[in-house]
Amino acid sequence: MTPSDIPHKDRLIVALDLPGVEQAEAMVARLGDSVSFYKIGYQLVYAGGLPLVRKLADQGKKVFIDLKLHDIGNTVARGVENIAKLGATFLTVHAYPQTMKAATEARAGTGLKILAVTVLTSYDDSDLHAAGYRLGVSDLVEARAQQAQLLGIDGLVCSAEEVGALRKIVGHQMHLVTPGIRPAGAATGDQKRIMTPARAIAAGSDYLVVGRPVVEAADPKAVAEAILAEITPPLAA
Ligand code: C5P
Repeated sequence: MTPSDIPHKDRLIVALDLPGVEQAEAMVARLGDSVSFYKIGYQLVYAGGLPLVRKLADQGKKVFIDLKLHDIGNTVARGVENIAKLGATFLTVHAYPQTMKAATEARAGTGLKILAVTVLTSYDDSDLHAAGYRLGVSDLVEARAQQAQLLGIDGLVCSAEEVGALRKIVGHQMHLVTPGIRPAGAATGDQKRIMTPARAIAAGSDYLVVGRPVVEAADPKAVAEAILAEITPPLAA
């Protein structure tokens, strides 16, 4: 599926960043038919949430497993083979060539797509320097995006501000998935580089990852529906 074929409702991925499985299942029930795509990350997986992937998939939902894998190639490959059996749509890995190569080879023939995290958005040039890197953030993001494409990675996780530059590098065959989305008026929390849903889609994002503005809302379903309504006009234009 190319990014332009993505069903409208699938463009909103709600991050189930909740303390436990019970709270996550209650949130899914509250959101009902309004939300078709969920992200499960460290917090929920380490609270026993991995079986929820299969459960959601069996309910017809799509699932993004955000575990940002990185290890020796063999270990990544064996992990990806087992994750592919859970029925998820997306899995994140860090954008190191060995890791990306192992992950794409291991997911071949399955429904799982691999997303690469180029440089964590909490890193700036000085953090990269402190970690021993020669390149700054923008050069490293660009280099890793090119490597990701050559290695057959299905998409990139990036900030909405990076989408324009990354599209020029990777074209339209790779999915660009953007967190750091805030509906107008929503609290920013610890996100620094934020964009509204409509602006992020207009900038070229394929999928929006939204956590706290939905799951901490008094009426999560209303917020999710408002986000989907907000991103309809640019798509129809
Ligand atoms: O609550 P909020 O909308 O900020 O949640 C964003 C989600 O996207 C979180 O689960 C966070 O871990 C994830 N994420 C992010 N920035 C990245 C990669 C993932 O905020 N670069």
